[in-house]
Amino acid sequence: MEAVRRQAVLTFSRKNRARFEENFNILVSAMSKITKEEVGLDDSLTKDTRSAPVTYVNILQHEDVTISMFVLRHKSSLPLHDHPLMHGVIKVVSGILEIQNYSFVEDPSDIVRHRIVCARKEIPKTVGVNDSPVILTPTNGNIHEITCTGHDGAAFVDVLAPPYGSVLPNLGPRPCFYYFEVPDQPAHSEIVKFVKSQNHPEFWTDDAPYLGR
Ligand SMILES: [Fe+2]
Repeated sequence: MEAVRRQAVLTFSRKNRARFEENFNILVSAMSKITKEEVGLDDSLTKDTRSAPVTYVNILQHEDVTISMFVLRHKSSLPLHDHPLMHGVIKVVSGILEIQNYSFVEDPSDIVRHRIVCARKEIPKTVGVNDSPVILTPTNGNIHEITCTGHDGAAFVDVLAPPYGSVLPNLGPRPCFYYFEVPDQPAHSEIVKFVKSQNHPEFWTDDAPYLGR
């Protein structure tokens, strides 16, 4: 994990945005090697013994990037949410997850201010520990829902930059919005209309300490 931490800071440091693409690819490659042993995953967190559907584990809080682990119980999910003007890399370290991505169809810097937005539904991905990391950019796959479909729970490591809460010019702290489909839309349409909200009535997390290297 030390290599991932170091590479994440190098890639997203505001002082060093030269060679971003090259550094980003090195980060993705380093993340593809992460194992649940390395991040000290407590397997008991994946069982149905806790009340929250998802447990959050903080790995790194840096002014330019965060690294977290999310542990999901069977059939639980992180509901549809966005990552305003952010990049992200997701690596599954335990179990199987279904990831439903949506991509913005308008300029993402405008969308941050909109309450209703349209997004293109991508083909869902089923992702396990042997699969490559899943990447999101300010436009592509920026909205996603992540669901645990396996019986034994699942966990993934999430690198996000810039962090939620970091300042967006003329807007303030970078928010996380949940997305709710607007009713009565044409069935099977590739473009879906959503209303955004900073609250979700059915989602919450608890947290656990990081036990990895
Ligand atoms: Fe996310």
